[in-house]
Amino acid sequence: MRSILIAGNWKMNMGPAETADFFKQLDDAAQKEIEGVEAAVCPPFVSLPAAFSARKSGSAVKIGAQNIHFEDNGAFTGEISSTMLNELGCDFVILGHSERREYFGENDEIINKKVKKALADGITPIVCVGEVLDERKQDRHFDVVKTQTAGSLAGLSATDASKIVIAYEPVWAIGTGETASPEQAQEMHAFIRKEVAGLFGQDIADGVRILYGGSMKPANADELLKQPDVDGGLIGGASLKPDSFAELVAISAKQ
Ligand code: PGA
Repeated sequence: MRSILIAGNWKMNMGPAETADFFKQLDDAAQKEIEGVEAAVCPPFVSLPAAFSARKSGSAVKIGAQNIHFEDNGAFTGEISSTMLNELGCDFVILGHSERREYFGENDEIINKKVKKALADGITPIVCVGEVLDERKQDRHFDVVKTQTAGSLAGLSATDASKIVIAYEPVWAIGTGETASPEQAQEMHAFIRKEVAGLFGQDIADGVRILYGGSMKPANADELLKQPDVDGGLIGGASLKPDSFAELVAISAKQ
C-alpha cells in the first residue's frame, strides 16, 4: 500500500518569521502521526532552520528543500548541497520543478545528477515532470513526460528507484487555478507508472508514489486523491496557509 504524501512547495515565499508563524498556527491534528498519510513542507533554504525550530516536538510534518547542486561542495557560488540539507535534517528535496526547468535552464541530465546526489545523501527526491500547454494541444504530452521520466531517472538502481517520489505537474495547471481533471491526472499517472515499470520492474512501479501538482486545493483534492494512481499532491499556493494545508492533510486522512 502506498501512503499518501501531501507536500507543500512554498517556492520563493515565507521568510523565517512567516515560517515560524505557520508552524505555530498549524492545527495539532495536521501534525500528528496519521496512518497512511505523510505531510511535508518545503520552505526556502533560509527558512529551513526556522521550520526545524518552530515545528512542535513530536510533529509528524516533515521538512524538505526545493533544490540542490549535484556536487558536495566547492566553487559553486550561491548553491547548496544535499550534504548540507542532510546536516539540517531535511527529508525531501523537490527536483526538476518546471520553474527550475524554465527559468534556470535545468534539463533532464542535470536533474538526473541531482536525483542521484540526493539519494546518495539519504534525502528523498520529489522528481517533477509535466508538459506545457502547447505540448498537450499537440498531443505530445505522453512523449514529453516519458522523456522527462526516463531522463531524470536514468541509471538509477532498482533500490534507488524504489525510494523516489514522482510529481506529475502539468505546467498549464501550475498557479493558474486550472486543474487537470481527475481523469486527465489518472491517465497520466497510470502512464508514468507503466514507464517506471518498464525501467525498473512492476514491483518498484507499484510502490513508487506519484503526486499530482497544479492548483490542487481543498476544493478539488478529494476527487484527485480518489484516483487509483494519484498518491498525493505537490501543492504550491494552497500550502502557504496553515488552515488549507491542514485541510489537505485531513482530506488525505479520509482516503
Ligand atoms: P500550485 O503550484 O499548487 O500553486 O499550482 C504547484 C507547484 O508548482 O508545485
